[in-house]
Amino acid sequence: MKNKHAIAALGLVGALALAGCGGGGAGSAGGGSEGSGEKSDMLIGVSMPTETSERWIADGDAVQEGLEEAGYQVDLQYAGDDIPTQGQQIDQMITKGADLLIIAAIDGTALSSQLDAAAAANIPVISYDRLIRDSEHVDFYVTFDNYKVGVQQATSLLVGLGVLDADGKETGEKGPFNVELFAGSLDDNNAHFFWQGAIDTLQPYLDEGVLAVPSGQTDIEQAAILRWQQETAQKRMEDLLTSTYSGGTKLDGVLSPYDGLSRGIITALQGTGGFGASIADGLPIVTGQDAEIASVSLIDQGVQFASIFKDTRKLAEQSVVAAESMLEGDEPEANDTETYDNGVKIVPSYLLQSDIVYKENITSLLVDSGYWTQAEVDSGVAE
Ligand code: BGC
Repeated sequence: MKNKHAIAALGLVGALALAGCGGGGAGSAGGGSEGSGEKSDMLIGVSMPTETSERWIADGDAVQEGLEEAGYQVDLQYAGDDIPTQGQQIDQMITKGADLLIIAAIDGTALSSQLDAAAAANIPVISYDRLIRDSEHVDFYVTFDNYKVGVQQATSLLVGLGVLDADGKETGEKGPFNVELFAGSLDDNNAHFFWQGAIDTLQPYLDEGVLAVPSGQTDIEQAAILRWQQETAQKRMEDLLTSTYSGGTKLDGVLSPYDGLSRGIITALQGTGGFGASIADGLPIVTGQDAEIASVSLIDQGVQFASIFKDTRKLAEQSVVAAESMLEGDEPEANDTETYDNGVKIVPSYLLQSDIVYKENITSLLVDSGYWTQAEVDSGVAE
């Protein structure tokens, strides 16, 4: 997977590397490697949250390969979803003389002191996928349109229930359908955007009675899963099944904002055997995000209904483009300067678009683009 997911970044970055050759000013933008301004002397620190989710491994690999192809040195670190570890890793990058930092935060509010230190050393910071909050020293943000991701997640739930057709048009189906709602980790800014996009999309149907949430757990605080942990989602789903569905109430759908959570939810649903009517008719509609291979395979088998494909190759490429431009003393190109307020300032952002993955478009979206091979889809394992 490593090379495959990084490859798209290379063409463009290679061209930039050539175009940037001999360009001066880099040393002035960065921290430690003062002097020559040669790219090969420049170190970029890349801090990723965790290796337990395959998307972050793909992100880290693609960013590293793109930067190395452009001629930079790279220090790539994963923090095992441990907040102090991420802080220490970033501190070390600063001490080592990093010229720029690319950070996907575990807790978006926990890195203020690292960002203060980076600013004091004149090291620019790019927030990667997840917005770093409560600091003025976030220079740029590369991400997807996270509100729209939430809209797409809710849309895929409505399509699965038959309320919308494949083109997103209302079918007239009135249900009522019983659904349960899951959210991501509250310390991840994205979780709030996904939730808001989803709730805004579902609310009219909840108001009309087309959808109901029998558990009554409709606040993000009730739905949230700390650190996006699969086991925690499985446990919450088991608890919901016991508290609300053991009497035979039918569960029709589950809004899940990440494939890892979806697999935990599916495990809980599959384990319920006797909770009857609900599961005997087939599993409820379960949504997702990230097009992880295990989930793509489940979608192919008709077990999970949908996911959201965010092409991490493009995100990595965009972060390299932004890094390159900052190190050359330019402003990176933003396509959104309004949405992402981190509590201190609006961070100029570059937003990418995402797509809903259904069984029907796995081939066109994921296989034809080289993101996964057909063999990987069949086996559910990345090669
Ligand atoms: C990312 C998602 C991912 C989630 C869990 C979010 O910040 O945007 O793509 O599913 O973290 O890793």
